[in-house]
Amino acid sequence: MDGRTLLAYISAGGATERYAHVVADTLRSRGHAVDMIDLKRDKIPDLSSYVNVVVGAGVRMGMVYRKGKRFLRRKDLEGKRLAIFLSSGIAVMSAEKSKAKFLEPLVKKYGLDPVMCDAFPGKMPGSMGKLKDMTDPEIARLWAEQLGAKLSAPA
Ligand SMILES: Cc1cc2nc3c(=O)[nH]c(=O)nc-3n(C[C@H](O)[C@H](O)[C@H](O)COP(=O)(O)O)c2cc1C
Repeated sequence: MDGRTLLAYISAGGATERYAHVVADTLRSRGHAVDMIDLKRDKIPDLSSYVNVVVGAGVRMGMVYRKGKRFLRRKDLEGKRLAIFLSSGIAVMSAEKSKAKFLEPLVKKYGLDPVMCDAFPGKMPGSMGKLKDMTDPEIARLWAEQLGAKLSAPA
């Protein structure tokens, strides 16, 4: 199981889910063995089988989704090569601002040391409760290309 990667994501509006698929497909195209779980419905597997863990989550009302945060708090993430991405409305304007506001405090609070940690543009709340899709899969593809080089080599 050397070099296996787990990608765990949590999405409400679909942006994080879309990015999760792009990241998984890109890593796989570089030869990584990636298992994907949806934290909303899937059972979390035994993490001892994985050297690399990628976590994706959305943010609403100023809060990163609870199940994403809970996953990031897990003690068995220790020693994993970890990467985190976020889908957010603020990132439509400024990915750096979104990262500083939502990701950096979590990384600090949980004592994490991710190899990559970035915010991607999500779906913006619009009129009549509709979401305007501002996702850009190319951002996630390029991110995952970079990440692929930083993760432990595939078996
Ligand atoms: C009710 C609601 C509240 C939101 N609050 C925030 C927020 O506080 N900060 C932010 O950056 N984006 C916010 N957004 C935008 C979301 O981050 C965006 O929709 C993102 O795509 C969520 O990820 P998901 O589609 O995977 O659920 C909000 C969106 C909705 C619908």
